[in-house]
Amino acid sequence: MKNSVFSDYPLKYDRWYDNNRDLYWPEMLALKRVVKKEEFGLEIGIGTGRFTMPLGVNIGIDPSYEALQIAQTRGVEVIEGIGEDIPFECDTFDYVLMVTTVCFLENPKKTFKESKRVLRKKGKLVIGMIPKRSDLGKIHLENKETSLFFKDVIFYSTKEITRYLKSAGFNKFQFLQTLINYPKEKEYFRYSKIQNEYDRGSFIVITAKI
Ligand SMILES: C[S@@+](CC[C@H](N)C(=O)[O-])C[C@H]1O[C@@H](n2cnc3c(N)ncnc32)[C@H](O)[C@@H]1O
Repeated sequence: MKNSVFSDYPLKYDRWYDNNRDLYWPEMLALKRVVKKEEFGLEIGIGTGRFTMPLGVNIGIDPSYEALQIAQTRGVEVIEGIGEDIPFECDTFDYVLMVTTVCFLENPKKTFKESKRVLRKKGKLVIGMIPKRSDLGKIHLENKETSLFFKDVIFYSTKEITRYLKSAGFNKFQFLQTLINYPKEKEYFRYSKIQNEYDRGSFIVITAKI
């Protein structure tokens, strides 16, 4: 099965965050700029829930039962499910979040339409992603064959995802970037800056509204 690697090695995936704090924290801080604790939110592809507590996410779905078991210990409500068929009613959430999940989806367009369905009127879809032509995206693509977790991914450019979002009915967009010139830029204080662009970052946050 395509995504069973997260079920086979959930702890190994979870530990990646402890060993890569220099990547994890800039990603977290960029997401914190747009995800607000007082809002009611769903994370699609929550995995082991590493972004959940610091961001105050309320509910997470994921096809991996084993990953969800770990996420649950972080105090979030979890449900087995996929983004293409979200197990919630229309108009439920202030935001829907996906962090490094779009590249694993069977059908991103369907997932964006589903996200729009479960969002409240003024809600937002927040996507954290590694663009395919970014420095980190290129490294992942070069090492794809031997990578445990990124073997089967399909990376997209920020423009491609924005196009899909438009066709799903979103039409207002805001972009943030961090991991700027990573890993060519060695100085943490430089590559971890957060900017309102999407041209040089290895981690992009897209906020899409209707
Ligand atoms: C790279 S992990 C990211 C996990 C978490 N968001 C994080 O940043 O730590 C990708 C996650 O997407 C999940 N996933 C794969 N296909 C999915 C789908 N169709 N719908 C929702 N989640 C999916 C995987 O099980 C995995 O937990």
